[in-house]
Amino acid sequence: MRRFENKVAIVTGGGSGIGRAACRRLAGEGAHVLVADLDGERAKATAALIGADGGSGKAITADIASEADNAAMFDMAEANWGGVDLAFLNAGMLQRYGPFEDITTEIFDRIIGVNLRGTFFGIKQAQARLRPEGACVVTASAAALTGFSEAAAYATSKHGVLGLVRSTARAFATRNLRVNAICPGNVLTPMNGVAQDDHIREALTDPDYRGGLSAQQVAEVALFLLSRQAVAINGHAQVVDAAASAAFVPLDL
Ligand SMILES: NC(=O)c1ccc[n+]([C@@H]2O[C@H](COP(=O)([O-])OP(=O)(O)OC[C@H]3O[C@@H](n4cnc5c(N)ncnc54)[C@H](O)[C@@H]3O)[C@@H](O)[C@H]2O)c1
Repeated sequence: MRRFENKVAIVTGGGSGIGRAACRRLAGEGAHVLVADLDGERAKATAALIGADGGSGKAITADIASEADNAAMFDMAEANWGGVDLAFLNAGMLQRYGPFEDITTEIFDRIIGVNLRGTFFGIKQAQARLRPEGACVVTASAAALTGFSEAAAYATSKHGVLGLVRSTARAFATRNLRVNAICPGNVLTPMNGVAQDDHIREALTDPDYRGGLSAQQVAEVALFLLSRQAVAINGHAQVVDAAASAAFVPLDL
């Protein structure tokens, strides 16, 4: 199945984790993919993987916290491939875990500036510039639906992201476009400290704990929402957390 033949896609945070998995699958199904990442080397590495797989991909160094960089991503994709059909606004950053009392104004502003304000810039570009029948998917988090005592700034930014998605769905619809969110639980990516810390990996992969997910498993849900199979879904959030938020943590009986 090649759902994205000749479509043009932009993926932010495409240099790692969920974004990289999405880039490779999009290209594998026929899309031209612009891999955008703050870390330009990682973006280039993803584009190289796409090329090695026989796909079409280019890289751009872009900070989603910059309004100009968000515009530059769309400029570059349009210049190379004539337009943009799909935007996966996936980049984000996690704060250092800790109590609420430790969150300084600087930390709060930084997290909001990247995760919420940066996503606002991406959504502005997508709503104005995607071609009709296109789609946008934003990576929120399970922490967009439930508070997170050890990451209050992060959870607050992701709650805001969901507010943006829900509140802009009608604006997208006026241009025959859609916007949706995914809300991943614990995903085994560098952001989660997985690459650095075996204890975290162990905790996340214990099914009684929180069901650690692969980046690929999460990316597949984003791609479904980007595809025409999801044409009836606009302005909603899909939780992807392997039951982590479906029930209370099991009792220790
Ligand atoms: N890993 C999880 O458990 C988890 C859970 C819920 C939501 N998420 C969200 O998923 C998204 C992707 O994270 P991941 O888990 O794949 O992490 P990751 O660390 O593997 O990848 C994140 C990528 O985003 C890039 N990035 C960071 N800040 C950026 C910026 N300002 N501009 C452009 N690129 C930037 C990084 O360089 C990195 O390549 C994030 O929005 C994150 O908040 C992750």
